[in-house]
Amino acid sequence: MTIDTVAVELGSRSYEVRIGRGLVARAGAEIAPLLKRRKVAVVTDETVAAQHLAALVAALEGEGIAVAALALPPGESTKGWPQFSRTVEWLLEQKVERRDVVVAFGGGVVGDLVGFASAVLRRGVRFVQLPTTLLAQVDSSVGGKTGINTAQGKNLVGAFHQPSLVLADIDVLATLPPRDFLAGYGEVVKYGLLGDAAFFDWLEGNGPKMAAGDPDARQYAVRRSVEMKAGIVSRDETEEGERALLNLGHTFCHALEKATGYSDRLLHGEGVAIGCALAFELSQRMGLCSQEAPSRVRAHLRDMGMKVDLADIGGDLPDAAALVSLMGQDKKVIDGKLRFVLARGIGKAFVADGVPPDLVTGLLQEALDQKSRR
Ligand code: GLY
Repeated sequence: MTIDTVAVELGSRSYEVRIGRGLVARAGAEIAPLLKRRKVAVVTDETVAAQHLAALVAALEGEGIAVAALALPPGESTKGWPQFSRTVEWLLEQKVERRDVVVAFGGGVVGDLVGFASAVLRRGVRFVQLPTTLLAQVDSSVGGKTGINTAQGKNLVGAFHQPSLVLADIDVLATLPPRDFLAGYGEVVKYGLLGDAAFFDWLEGNGPKMAAGDPDARQYAVRRSVEMKAGIVSRDETEEGERALLNLGHTFCHALEKATGYSDRLLHGEGVAIGCALAFELSQRMGLCSQEAPSRVRAHLRDMGMKVDLADIGGDLPDAAALVSLMGQDKKVIDGKLRFVLARGIGKAFVADGVPPDLVTGLLQEALDQKSRR
C-alpha cells in the first residue's frame, strides 16, 4: 500500500501530511531530514505510550535519533495549565533548543497542548504531529490551531502554530476503541457534508467497511478529509472566512458538550455528528435545502451506529432556551449574534449570521420532547 502525501500550502510554513500504513515504524526516516541534530523530544499520553511508544522510539533510534519521552495522563483534563506548564518545563529541562523538533504523539489533547507548548517554547520551536486518533488525523493535527482549556472555556488560550510535518499512520487506528473511532468518523462525515457530495456518497457506501477496519477505506477517507482541510487552511489560515465552514455542527455541539460537562456522556465527535444532523434540519426548516438532505444525513449516521438525536445522549439535558444560551457563550459569537454553518444541500455549506433564535429554540425543544418520550 502506498503512502499518500497532501501538501498544506502556506508559503514558507508549508508542510506535508503523510498518510498510510506503517508510518510509526518509518518515523525516524520521515523526521530525520528536519533535524539539525539527531535528537527529539516526544510528548505523548500514558495510553498511547503503553501501546505504541516502544515502536516509535525504536524507529527513531534506528535512524540514530536520541529520544526523550514524556507521557501525560490521558483525557481532556490534561489540556489545561498544570500539564501545559509541566510540558514546557520538561522540554526546557531536556534542553530543547530553537532549532530542535518536538514530536506530539497522541490524539487531539496531546496535539493541541504540545503544539501550543512548541509555539511558546523559546518563542517557537518546530513540531511534528503524529496523530493516533481518527479525529486527530482528519482534523486537529492539520491546520495549526493549538491551545489549552481554561476555567472560562475550551481552547480559549492558544496560538496558530503550524506543524512542520504530520504523519498519520492508518495502522494505529486499529487500536482505537470503536466508540472513539466512530466519534472521529463524525468529523469525516462533516467534510462530505460541508463541501464534497461525492465523498458523502462514498461514505454512504464505504463507511461500514471503514468502521470494520478496512485499511484501504480508512486511508482513502483520511486522505480525502485532509485534502479538504488542507485546501481550506491554505486559503484561510486564521479563520477570517472559509475556515469557519469546518465548524459545521459545532455550534450545537459546543452547547451539548457544555451541557454534559465535557464528560464521556458525549464525545466531541459524537456532538459534531448530532450537530450536523441538527444543522441540516435547521437548514431545511429555513427553506434552504430539501427534506431529502437531513434525512440522508440522519440515515447514514444511524447506519453507522452513531448518535444522531438528543435522545441518544444519556441523562438529563437543560431546556431549549438554556441550550441556546450556552451557544451564546461560544467563542465564535460575533457581536452577540449566533453564527451557524448551514447548508443548501449535501456538500453545500455556508456561514449564516442571521438565524432566527426562535427557530433554533423550537428545533431543540422538539428534539428534547422526543427525548422525554423515549
Ligand atoms: N477544527 C477546526 C479548524 O481547524 O478550523
